[in-house]
Amino acid sequence: MTAQLVIRSADAHDLRDLAQLMLASGHGVVELLYEGLFPDHDLIDILIERRLRNPASFAHLSNWRVACLGAGPVEGAVCALPFAVYERLTGDPLITPERLAPIQELIDLDAGLAGTFCLTNIAVWPSGRGKGIGQALLADTAIRARAAGFDRIGLSTFGDDPAVMGFYRRAGFRLIGTAPLRPHPRIDAQGHWAILDWTFNTPTV
Ligand SMILES: CC(C)(COP(=O)(O)OP(=O)(O)OC[C@H]1O[C@@H](n2cnc3c(N)ncnc32)[C@H](O)[C@@H]1OP(=O)(O)O)[C@@H](O)C(=O)NCCC(=O)NCCS
Repeated sequence: MTAQLVIRSADAHDLRDLAQLMLASGHGVVELLYEGLFPDHDLIDILIERRLRNPASFAHLSNWRVACLGAGPVEGAVCALPFAVYERLTGDPLITPERLAPIQELIDLDAGLAGTFCLTNIAVWPSGRGKGIGQALLADTAIRARAAGFDRIGLSTFGDDPAVMGFYRRAGFRLIGTAPLRPHPRIDAQGHWAILDWTFNTPTV
């Protein structure tokens, strides 16, 4: 018998999984931003303290949902929040404009997500991919968005990655903007950044 997929709010037991999944969803961008800042510390511990446990970070634990098979371990996770809140919260004050320079085109493009419920990170462990877990996390995000008064989810991503773009298009996302992705040895992607949105039906009661 196959265990049922359960999607729940993340809690403190999930911190290490979330930090790893955040790295997986960033394709090297997170590593680039923190490179050399804390040479004696593990990046996972840094992300837990500076992002996941930090209420001033958009990636605070409270914005994550996790997918598990039955009572099993975490298979994947998604982080999302209203864009207006995302925009207000600092990523990390230690990440200076100089550090952000390689992704400045992405930061500028993100302004096009105003008014959306913004999905900032999503990832599924490689062993669980292709089984519908990612789509279930998107459906769960739509329910959260609707509960918060939104009918549109927005996100930015790697516009020339066929697997990622195929995944979002399958759910109903459409392309609303692109910007060149500056080649960088740390970033495991090339071509363009893309912003996408998905307007889902608001139920009429
Ligand atoms: C993107 C990701 C979250 C998808 O999760 P998933 O659980 O594998 O996705 P699902 O099984 O729900 O959906 C798979 C769908 O994606 C699409 N897809 C997957 N690979 C594809 C490819 N190479 N080309 C086109 N479409 C593809 C298909 O529509 C597929 O549906 P199908 O199997 O019915 O054809 C997962 O692949 C992942 O963690 N990737 C690494 C992290 C990442 O890139 N995150 C997004 C960054 S913004």
